[in-house]
Amino acid sequence: MENLLEKIKETTNYIKNQVENFEPDYGVILGSGLGGFTGEMKIKFELPYTLIPNFPVSTVKGHGGKLIFGFLGDKKVVAMSGRFHFYEGYTMQQVAFPIRVMKFIGIKKLFISNASGGLNPAQQIGDLMIIKDHISLLPTNPLLGKNDDELGARFPDMSEPYDKSLIERGLAIAAQNKIRCAKGVYVGVTGPCFESPAEYKYMHIIGGDAVGMSTVPEVIVARHMLLPVFAIAVITDLGVTDNPVKITHEEVIAAANAAESKMSLIIKELILGDKL
Ligand code: HPA
Repeated sequence: MENLLEKIKETTNYIKNQVENFEPDYGVILGSGLGGFTGEMKIKFELPYTLIPNFPVSTVKGHGGKLIFGFLGDKKVVAMSGRFHFYEGYTMQQVAFPIRVMKFIGIKKLFISNASGGLNPAQQIGDLMIIKDHISLLPTNPLLGKNDDELGARFPDMSEPYDKSLIERGLAIAAQNKIRCAKGVYVGVTGPCFESPAEYKYMHIIGGDAVGMSTVPEVIVARHMLLPVFAIAVITDLGVTDNPVKITHEEVIAAANAAESKMSLIIKELILGDKL
């Protein structure tokens, strides 16, 4: 993306005007079938992506496509209802652009949700997994190209991609609410096909517990800007099994919808109890 910084600033100015300088402290990315989180919010402003300069437009069923600003309790939040995926044909920079903009709008922490394929035989469909680390199997990286020091370092540290204190608090909230939730390693792939049985097995052998087609580019860009990240996956299908079964997008969405209230509860409690 040419003149990335200029574009970020142009988009940020547009949004700030539209939302009358409402300054959110928390950003939330709502993954497949997880849009109901915004039902917990007192919504102040909604901006469809189609109206936002420089924003890509989502093409996938089940992805809403708007920025939602409002209060969660007394916390100011911006939620992305609908995100962008590399498999849709966007560049990595486009996929990650909204994260840049949310940081410039003022968010201090980023919360990400996604739907993932399970790689760990201990998992059941509908389990949640708090992401503690990731392995990128993506063919490229959103930070390739000229680095702008105003955004972050040329060679960003990745020793703590996911904030340790948020992970521990997230696990405690899950336990208090008797929600099945482990922590594990997320493998990021392009998709759009789901994995073959041998690929799921391989990803488990290299250390993965879940695989999905989002999140990694968003986390890389967030960490480039030193934004703390919390990410949680709902396991919508099981890849490592002796009896591979067909997986459809509809089943993934249905499983994500079924787990939605558990996921929303964890993110909501984390934000409500957070201290900046
Ligand atoms: N693989 C990749 N991405 C996914 C999967 C999967 O099995 N399930 C949901 N998103």
